[in-house]
Amino acid sequence: MTKPLNVGMIGYGFMGRAHSNAYLKVSRFFPLAHQPVLKAICARNKEKADAFAQNWGYESVETDWRKLIERSDIDLIDIGSPNNTHLEIALAAAKAGKMILCEKPLAMTVAEAEQMTEAVEKAGIPNMVWFNYRRVPAISLAKSFVDEGRIGRAFHYRACYLQDWTIAEDVPQGGAALWRLDVDVAGSGVTGDLLAHSIDTAMWLNGAIAEVSAATETFVKERLHQETGKMQPVGIDDACMFLAKFANGSIGTFESTRYARGRKNFNTFELNGADGSVHFNLEDPQYLDYFEYRAPGGPKVPGHTTGWRRIHVTNAEHPYMDKWWVPGCTVGYEHTFINALADFIAGIETGKPTQPDFRNALQTQRVCDAVLKSAKTRQWEKTGVTL
Ligand SMILES: NC(=O)c1ccc[n+]([C@@H]2O[C@H](COP(=O)([O-])OP(=O)(O)OC[C@H]3O[C@@H](n4cnc5c(N)ncnc54)[C@H](O)[C@@H]3O)[C@@H](O)[C@H]2O)c1
Repeated sequence: MTKPLNVGMIGYGFMGRAHSNAYLKVSRFFPLAHQPVLKAICARNKEKADAFAQNWGYESVETDWRKLIERSDIDLIDIGSPNNTHLEIALAAAKAGKMILCEKPLAMTVAEAEQMTEAVEKAGIPNMVWFNYRRVPAISLAKSFVDEGRIGRAFHYRACYLQDWTIAEDVPQGGAALWRLDVDVAGSGVTGDLLAHSIDTAMWLNGAIAEVSAATETFVKERLHQETGKMQPVGIDDACMFLAKFANGSIGTFESTRYARGRKNFNTFELNGADGSVHFNLEDPQYLDYFEYRAPGGPKVPGHTTGWRRIHVTNAEHPYMDKWWVPGCTVGYEHTFINALADFIAGIETGKPTQPDFRNALQTQRVCDAVLKSAKTRQWEKTGVTL
C-alpha cells in the first residue's frame, strides 16, 4: 500500500509541466512508499489553469497561492513560478509546515535565500531546490568518478552555458514567457538563470568556489516592456564570464550568454585532474567523456593505450539507469526531474534528506551575488560559500 503525497503545484509553465510529469511517473519507476497525488494546480489565470488541470489530471485549481497554502489537504508546495515569487511563497509555506520543492535560482538575492533557508530549517520541513542537472545520469556518473578518486588532484574546471534566443532586438521584456528579461522579476540575467546551474554542478563535483572575478554585458540596452507598453532599459546581464578560485586550489572559467548563435541549451563542463578528466555536454546528454591517466590506487595507464573514452551512460550499473530501460536505450531531459523527485521522496522515507536543499542552494546564490558584485566593482570578490 502506498501513502499519498498531496501536491500543490504553483505555475503551469515550462516547469509546471516538467514537474507534473515527474509526479505522475515517479512511483511507476522507483520503488517508493509514497505516491504523489496531483491535488491542486495554482496559477492566476483560471481558464488556463482549468485547462492545465484537465490535461494533467489535477483534482482542483487555485488562483491565489495563499489559498493553496492554507489548505489542509496539501502536504507539499512546489514553487514553479518566476524568481520574484519564491521568497514570499516559501516563507508562507514553511510557516504552514508544508514540505517545499522550489525552482532555481532559490531567490533573487543572498539576503532572500538566507531568510528562506532559516524559515525551512526553523520549521523542520523537508525541502529541495530543483537543480535537476545533477540527476542527468552522466553527470551523476562524473560525481561518482570524483568520489572514487578517478580525477585525483583537481587543476581546472571549465563550464559554458550558451543559448541564442534573445539576439533579436525586438524581443520584448516582461510578462508571460519573457519575465526572464525583466530584472525586477528575474533578479539577474544569465547569471541566475543559467550560470546558477553551472555553479551548482561545479560545486557538487569540485567543492566550494571561494573567489570570483567577473565581467557582464548587456548587448541590447532597451526593450519594449510587455506590461507597460513602453521602451524600458534592460537591467539583466545578457552575458557573463567569470574566473573562479576553488577552495581545493583548482581554478575555473565560466561563460554564459543568450547571444551564442546556434547554441540552444549548450551546457558543458570539463574537469581536469592529475589522474583523469571528465567532459560533459547537455546537447549530447547520454555520454560522459572520460580520460583515464591512472585508476585509483593503480599504475599509470600504458601510454600507447591512453585516450578519451566515450561512455554511453545507459548500463544498469550507471546512476538511475536500473530504473529505466535496457542498456543502450537512452533517457532524456524529463527524466532528470523524475530522478530528482525520487531522491527527494526516498530522503523523506529514509530520514536522509537529499541534496541540494535550501542551505546548499544558498551557497550557489552566494556565488551568483559575488559574480554580479565583481562585475560592478571590477575586483575579485570572496563568495563566503560554506559547504
Ligand atoms: N530547473 C530548471 O532547469 C529550470 C528550467 C526552467 C525554469 N526554471 C525555473 O522555474 C521557475 C519558473 O520558470 P518557467 O520557465 O516554468 O516559467 P514560465 O513562464 O514557463 O511559467 C511560470 C508560471 O508561473 C505562473 N505564475 C507567475 N506568477 C504567479 C503567481 N504570482 N502566482 C501563481 N502563479 C504564478 C505563470 O502563470 C506560469 O504558469 C523559475 O524560477 C525558473 O528560473 C528552472
